[in-house]
Amino acid sequence: MKNPLHAEFCADLATQHRVSIVHNERIAQSTYRLRFEAPELAQRITPGQFVMVRLSGCDDPILGRPFALYDTVLSDTGDAIGLDIVYLVLGKMTARLSAMQPGQQLDVWGPLGNGFTPSPAAHLLLVAGGIGQTPFPAVAQEALGQRVYGHPPRFAPRAESVTLLYGARNFSYLAGLDDFERIGVRLQISTDDGSRGHHGFVTDLLKFELANSQTPLQVLCCGPEPMMEKVAEICDHANAPCQVSLETPMACGIGICFSCVAKVRDAAGEWDYKRTCVEGPVFEASRIEW
Ligand SMILES: Cc1cc2nc3c(=O)[nH]c(=O)nc-3n(C[C@H](O)[C@H](O)[C@H](O)COP(=O)(O)OP(=O)(O)OC[C@H]3O[C@@H](n4cnc5c(N)ncnc54)[C@H](O)[C@@H]3O)c2cc1C
Ligand code: FES
Repeated sequence: MKNPLHAEFCADLATQHRVSIVHNERIAQSTYRLRFEAPELAQRITPGQFVMVRLSGCDDPILGRPFALYDTVLSDTGDAIGLDIVYLVLGKMTARLSAMQPGQQLDVWGPLGNGFTPSPAAHLLLVAGGIGQTPFPAVAQEALGQRVYGHPPRFAPRAESVTLLYGARNFSYLAGLDDFERIGVRLQISTDDGSRGHHGFVTDLLKFELANSQTPLQVLCCGPEPMMEKVAEICDHANAPCQVSLETPMACGIGICFSCVAKVRDAAGEWDYKRTCVEGPVFEASRIEW
């Protein structure tokens, strides 16, 4: 189909599904992992892409909300049959989601957005703040050759190692550490109150890693905007390539409403508004006008 919205990753290929919840379990403070069946979506989605979620048969809230792919769920025969998302309870939608039970239904559309560009770097350095770790289990598994994503399955160069620098308010908000350990990701943690790992910001960990790295690396980052801005600045000083996944609030998710725009510079250094939902959410950090 001709792309009517002049965006590379327009939502032309997204499909909408009414899905059943399989699990919805608390995994950390105010944080839940929600699993739903959606074979068509699960077969096509790639790391860093997202889905829009709405409560079926309910118009409050009326708009869907975006959630990153945490991971796809495989059947016994290895076919992708479902999706996991991990969410932090923040407002109306996530509070209502947290009360939902297995068997209840959601309206979900996707896959949406561009996702992270696979990198040939030997060392993948993932930097997450708050709930920003959610895109990274899929990224790490793909980079370590444990899983393939997309239809047809896409090729991703292998990384020799993957490190997650993960900053949270305190230890009770750290979610999914066991998932990252199972994948073989090296974990470095920081907390604002010092209750786990480094007492301070995740950006302190990043400075240390960049100063001591011996191998070519690629930084991927997701989290609150002030933290991503700081990560972009540190990577710029260190000459380290960095992709950021913006968590701009979205209304439609499919490129129509322009509620999700961010200022992004082109190769000539001129900035323009880009729609995070169809031209992102992942951008080269050096291109963002923070
Ligand atoms: C591409 C993308 C992927 C995302 N992936 C995840 C994910 O995997 N897990 C997850 O928990 N969240 C994720 N988010 C954020 C998530 O969409 C919001 O937390 C959610 O919309 C909140 O909905 P709500 O109705 O509970 O809160 P609302 O009632 O909509 O908002 C509550 C408060 O949070 C503020 N708020 C809403 N959205 C955001 C935002 N994106 N950033 C900062 N403040 C916000 C509002 O201004 C308000 O003050 C993602 C966002 C984007 C754009
Ligand atoms: S959310 Fe509507 S254009 Fe991006």
